[in-house]
Amino acid sequence: MNAKIVLLPGDGIGPEITAAAHQVLEFIAKRGSHRFEFSEYLIGGCSIDRYGVALTEETLEACKQSDAILLGAVGGPKWDNPAAPVRPEQGLLGLRKSLGLFANLRPVKIYPKLAGASPLRPERLAGVDMIIVRELTGGLYFGQPRGRFVTDGREKAIDTLEYHDYEIDRIVRMAFDLARGRRKKVTSVDKANVLESSRLWRAITVEIGKEYPDVTLEHALVDSVAMRLVANPSSFDVVVSENLFADILSDEAAILTGSLGVLPSASLGSSGPGMYEPIHGSAPDIAGKGIADPIGTIVSAAFLLRYSLKLGTEAAQIEAAVEKTIEDGCTTPDLGGSCSTAQVTEAILRNLQ
Ligand code: IPM
Ligand code: MG
Repeated sequence: MNAKIVLLPGDGIGPEITAAAHQVLEFIAKRGSHRFEFSEYLIGGCSIDRYGVALTEETLEACKQSDAILLGAVGGPKWDNPAAPVRPEQGLLGLRKSLGLFANLRPVKIYPKLAGASPLRPERLAGVDMIIVRELTGGLYFGQPRGRFVTDGREKAIDTLEYHDYEIDRIVRMAFDLARGRRKKVTSVDKANVLESSRLWRAITVEIGKEYPDVTLEHALVDSVAMRLVANPSSFDVVVSENLFADILSDEAAILTGSLGVLPSASLGSSGPGMYEPIHGSAPDIAGKGIADPIGTIVSAAFLLRYSLKLGTEAAQIEAAVEKTIEDGCTTPDLGGSCSTAQVTEAILRNLQ
């Protein structure tokens, strides 16, 4: 197959880990006689330094023309002033909104060999296998009005939590569809005891649930889910929620695995390219040292093959090769190993053969 893939390495360790995943994709292309056409653009802090903005029109246009996007990470201390008018995160948020990437999938998977790194006792981790489905283009991140206003010498700030029925409908449907291929349980997370937007969310979810009688639907309040994620994490299968709730819960869920470096994510729209990135940040403290963990990005590349290019078999092969590499103990220092980024990547390529 032919595919145009845009690489957005970004900042910090982004370039190192994106290069590693690029190698894996090249390998898959060569072995399967696929023609993957790669192009690379700046995003985030490096784009601010060069062009004064975190996302240029040129980068956005290239992404729109592509079949899939692989992103490393954005941000770093150099651009870390939250009051600055131009910030690296704007690149990410701009891409999500402009490409209509309303669904963000964040799987939480335990690699048995790494379970010791989890903050939870091993017995709590048994059976943990969930995917968080985060609404990504609505809610407080984009609602209007927003801003800071001064009236009569007093200052106030406003953010707006707004959801339209169609935005809830499409993300909740995606959660149910995913559940059908898994353990057939959806936990819809809201704050319906307080928020109007949550009441609409819940009402729509109840209706959609009727179309999926084979899937068990549970409603849960976000504060109680925060607690259950630690107390009883194996009770979740597919967890769906609005943008900010799921932003917070997905970090909490990710750390259960003890290894942020290995987790991927996919951001999808109803058509057009998907965007794939590891969930960890740009780790500026270890940038350029050759010890960044490439696994999160390589598994994100597997997701790219599965969801955007429909190469599910190849995706599963990469996942298996990653698992074997971890089992063999070839890991970077974040996972307690002593391998370099290059050594882990080579081991994964070897296990793919
Ligand atoms: C994430 C991040 C972003 C978000 C930040 C960097 C804007 O936390 O992808 O979860 O809040 O969405
Ligand atoms: Mg986050």
